[in-house]
Amino acid sequence: MDKNFYITTPIYYPSAKPHMGHAYSSIIADFFARFKRIDGYKVHFLTGTDEHGLKIQRSAEKKGIDTLEFCNEISQTFRDLSKTLNLTNTDFIRTTEKRHQESVQYLWKELEKNDDIYLSKYSGWYSVSDEAFYNEDEIEEIDGKKIAVLSKSSVEWIEEESYFFRLSKWQQPLLDYYKNNPDFISPESRKNEVVSFVKGGLKDLSVSRKTFSWGIKVPDNNEHIIYVWLDALTNYISALNYPNKEDKLYKEFWPANIHLIGKDILRFHAVYWPAFLLAAKIELPKKIYSHGWILSDNEKMSKSKGNILDPLEIINQYGLDPLRYYLIKEVSFGNDGNISQERLEDCINSDLANNFGNLCQRVTAFAIKNCNSKIPNDIKFNDEDFIILNKYKDNLTTIRDKIDDQNINFYIDYIVKSLFEANKYFNDQEPWKKKDDQVRLNTIVYTTLEIVRKISFMLFPIIPESSLKALKIFNIKENQIELSSIQNHKYLEEGSSINKIDILFKKIEKNND
Ligand code: MSP
Repeated sequence: MDKNFYITTPIYYPSAKPHMGHAYSSIIADFFARFKRIDGYKVHFLTGTDEHGLKIQRSAEKKGIDTLEFCNEISQTFRDLSKTLNLTNTDFIRTTEKRHQESVQYLWKELEKNDDIYLSKYSGWYSVSDEAFYNEDEIEEIDGKKIAVLSKSSVEWIEEESYFFRLSKWQQPLLDYYKNNPDFISPESRKNEVVSFVKGGLKDLSVSRKTFSWGIKVPDNNEHIIYVWLDALTNYISALNYPNKEDKLYKEFWPANIHLIGKDILRFHAVYWPAFLLAAKIELPKKIYSHGWILSDNEKMSKSKGNILDPLEIINQYGLDPLRYYLIKEVSFGNDGNISQERLEDCINSDLANNFGNLCQRVTAFAIKNCNSKIPNDIKFNDEDFIILNKYKDNLTTIRDKIDDQNINFYIDYIVKSLFEANKYFNDQEPWKKKDDQVRLNTIVYTTLEIVRKISFMLFPIIPESSLKALKIFNIKENQIELSSIQNHKYLEEGSSINKIDILFKKIEKNND
């Protein structure tokens, strides 16, 4: 069985500093990367910055600094954010790197060689903010200003000589591909959008610009630079050392398992990217998963609306793991989700502090006092113990399947339910009343500790730092976390010592005035 897994985030425009939407894409990708790793996969996890194009050039000009210097500075803030979010990305690509530029130019030549590129003239609407071309029917006029209907970004008219990619030629092959690979685009609703867009007809795509210079030059015609999306999308293979298909990274990880993206960039990933790859005779990624938007006050965050939530501020105030947990749990994956500080505080108090933190503290304190600070060693499971322990064993395959289906909602609900059950089990079994039956007392403690271990393993991809803190109870280290061991009823070594741990999550005092 193929035990390699390659996941990517979009590469971010360093036109402004990172916001919650970027943090969201990255945290979700990290969740999948960590899950697969603890399930025995070798994982390649790529993120980075998308640094070419007019948008970046103009942002640098506005600041009055050299464009590359500008990119260096902001790209670094994205690199720093990866650390702050505790991401386990194995590479960080910048489109200004030589490895990437060479790949893009090679891909261009492949497209040219296969007669998929020709020189002509472009005239039409262009949005610099979206770095996208729009048809007349995708434009509206508000207060005398032309804007794109979907993104509301302003558009400008451009007319210039341009190279074109024969996108129209790939309309039917793309439709066939979607049909033969029903899981290629997820969720289903987004797939339907893409299919109807492609069925509506594809026009050839302008893939070079002449009127500005910040980009990768078209090979053999230095007057043109390559369209920023053709440049950017190639990052997914340039990071694997394309065109060297014999390269170890390329062989191990292409085709990617998931390109995780936001819904606003679906067309580029589900139409243009596969068309480029088909034209260049490169295998297509296995899945494009498009998540929804994080909304603040029910609107998409944007600089112009001034409603940007800063992930760093939230992390400073509440800590990283609460933010990771909250985004993964509260934003129904695939849909838009409004975020609010109040709901974040509720999550910390009810799920993290009361449900998880409290369970860990209670059972550990009880075991320290009543089992000599050791994992009990004289135990005998009864039916009730088996019922709760067996659930992890019986559901492991389902859990894996759901994750392969990107059903994060199932995963987190499963954990929350398990925490309730574990707390209930400990309460109902009343070990404090079993002091004259040490075997029963030991068994209840052992079972509860086993469940704390299993749940901490499952929580690791979501709240890695807190999960490791909890696992200190058993001296379990990160490299020992293995998903398949949640099946094991007797993983904890009887007689080994138990450690007291610090409070995992502080409850937030809520002011109800
Ligand atoms: N540079 C392109 C991607 C190129 S990938 C080959 C780009 N960059 S971006 O910085 O504008 O956006 C990157 C990602 O952040 C996109 O997936 C976008 O959907 C996501 N988000 C930006 N704002 C968002 C929210 N408010 N909520 C959730 N994600 C959003 O597009």
